[in-house]
Amino acid sequence: MLIQYSTNLDLLEKLNIEGFFVGWPSPPSSTVFRKLLEGSYKAVLAFEDHKLVGFVNSISDGVLSAYIPLLEVLPTHHNKGIGKELIKRIQKELEHLYMVDLLCDQELISYYEKLGMMKAQGACMRNYDRQSGN
Ligand SMILES: CC(C)(COP(=O)(O)OP(=O)(O)OC[C@H]1O[C@@H](n2cnc3c(N)ncnc32)[C@H](O)[C@@H]1OP(=O)(O)O)[C@@H](O)C(=O)NCCC(=O)NCCS
Repeated sequence: MLIQYSTNLDLLEKLNIEGFFVGWPSPPSSTVFRKLLEGSYKAVLAFEDHKLVGFVNSISDGVLSAYIPLLEVLPTHHNKGIGKELIKRIQKELEHLYMVDLLCDQELISYYEKLGMMKAQGACMRNYDRQSGN
């Protein structure tokens, strides 16, 4: 089946968006998932027929900086180039900005380097009791 890509979040009305946040102890509900996509500066959806199979989102000040908090492809669709295509497309959406940052595990750094990004140092905090967004 053909994988399609879109930045049009109106499509969320028609798409099955279940199955994401794999391994999260307190995953966001579908309602919260839709809300975080709709609240994003830019997002790209990957879908197959009426099923969302991958997504990436960004938040931004719209002037200099953007952050990419979430990129996920459903396990059934891994290693088909969907993640790379989502990153390329969000990079295009953010090309007018100076800084585009994300945090990732060490093992994924080469993945992002192949997509034109640089290894960097970072810091973060997590409020685990807020993980579901509720
Ligand atoms: C990371 C992720 C988005 C990749 O999506 P994908 O569509 O399966 O990946 P692609 O098909 O674009 O790329 C496949 C390549 O990525 C590599 N890769 C995928 N996941 C990896 C991981 N966790 N660690 C290291 N390499 C990984 C594969 O080995 C493959 O390498 P190759 O091109 O040299 O053969 C997907 O594995 C995922 O959703 N993971 C869980 C969520 C996550 O970790 N998101 C990233 C947050 S920073």
